Amino acid sequence: NVLILDFGSQYTQLIARRVRELNIYCEIYPYSKIPEDLSGFKAVILSGSPFSVRAEDAPHPDLSQIRGKLPILAVCYGAQYLAHFFGGKVEPSDTREYGRANLSVIKDAETLFEDITENSQVWMSHSDSIIKLPENAVRLASTSDVLNAAYRIEGEETYAIQFHPEVYHSTDGKQLLENFLVKIAGTKQTWTPGAFVDLTVDELKEKIGDDKVVLGLSGGVDSTVAAVLLHKAIGKNLYCIFVNNGLLRKNEFESVLDQYKHMGLNVKGVDASARFLDALKGLSDPEEKRKAIGNTFIEVFDDEAHEITDVTYLAQGTIYPDVIESVSVNGPSVTIKSHHNVGGLPDFMKLKVVEPLRMLFKDEVRRVGKELGIDKELLGRHPFPGPGLAIRILGDITAEKVRILQEVDHIFIQGLRDWMLYDKVWQAGAILLPIQSVGVMGDERTYEQVVALRAVESTDGMTADWVNLPYEFLQKTSNTIINRVKGVNRVVYDISSKPPATIEWE
Ligand code: XMP
Repeated sequence: NVLILDFGSQYTQLIARRVRELNIYCEIYPYSKIPEDLSGFKAVILSGSPFSVRAEDAPHPDLSQIRGKLPILAVCYGAQYLAHFFGGKVEPSDTREYGRANLSVIKDAETLFEDITENSQVWMSHSDSIIKLPENAVRLASTSDVLNAAYRIEGEETYAIQFHPEVYHSTDGKQLLENFLVKIAGTKQTWTPGAFVDLTVDELKEKIGDDKVVLGLSGGVDSTVAAVLLHKAIGKNLYCIFVNNGLLRKNEFESVLDQYKHMGLNVKGVDASARFLDALKGLSDPEEKRKAIGNTFIEVFDDEAHEITDVTYLAQGTIYPDVIESVSVNGPSVTIKSHHNVGGLPDFMKLKVVEPLRMLFKDEVRRVGKELGIDKELLGRHPFPGPGLAIRILGDITAEKVRILQEVDHIFIQGLRDWMLYDKVWQAGAILLPIQSVGVMGDERTYEQVVALRAVESTDGMTADWVNLPYEFLQKTSNTIINRVKGVNRVVYDISSKPPATIEWE
């Protein structure tokens, strides 16, 4: 197990993902909450930070429990922190670097740089520089602008690097992490999907015994993988509920329900479309729509859960990014991200919560899903928001608007599949705009709806850019939509990035 101490860098989660990609397990802790018992950890990585070490309110944790006892890799802020407090000097300098730099390794006999090519590209992002190393430190590498790009503290397995090995643009970053974790710290690369499945199934069996578990399936990757894992552990005692809120994609409810049944899951499909539409009647504010949908879901789910006698557990598909306590950038205080999946349903459910995926990143969930034999198409599905098409119909919702959007969305998504573009896109969908525009069809003047198409690439939804879809594809899709979907006479393509726009329009 590897401990990653978070100083608030935007890249901390990326460090964890890279480590996990090496099949090594790791956990992120805020710098202010270093675990008291370190016996389970074999190595420590100190993250970067938006702070300057010279700032009064910068993170200044006591590392005496760790230094000299466990191998340390200090990244960026971590490297400056060690330098600043142990006899070196950190200052704002004219040689600050952002972006690409090339690493010149001085001590290439060092294990840390084994199998790393000379002049390897590394990613820099710092405004302070280490201008003097601590007394007992040896310089390991430089770049053209930064003398102390890497150093080691003599007599300890403590390494410090100014660049970010976790970033994709650091070409040999993964090799460096592997050198540190495997060759220096001796961690084992045993964190594989197969090992996770075996371990988790055993743990679930042990924890749940003969008790019953209820789980809400959404058609998404997380809840599906959670369900299959639990099913493997406790079989028929897992009761799945799949609610149709009437705001899913065209035919989605029927086809996904069918797939679930084929997978052997004990699943009940509940069509509550009318109840949701009713709750949404007259609402046009996005947050009010979200609230109405959330509350209705809880009511429907609760009614269904009551049909099952003697349930003890509520299972959820919560994943690691929803759980990690992140360090607040605005001050030394520690905040916990609030998220719709964390905390679960309200108290009245009175069920114990089980979350078999709470330590996994999204890509790991997919790998586990693959290991469990879940259909590739299901695992590769784009993310889809819980409130569904309700937040892609701007303004108030009617059954007719849902029908129109379902048709448009279906043509767009099916088109992406047919043109082999689906897997190149992170998320895609159509938005029904609350305006009408003039058109002409045959000899008739029309005055009909406008739809926007949106397709983005992203890794986590936090930032995103629009996808440069082929003009020919857009042309064909637009034609098909206008010819086939009654009520639509204009199609536009959204070319906004996030930030400053968001992925959804509401
Ligand atoms: P935005 O629009 O904030 O979306 O750029 C980022 C990601 O979050 C999804 N999203 C939601 N998911 N409930 C959800 O479950 C919501 O209310 C919600 N709003 C946005 C969005 O689809 C995208 O993947």
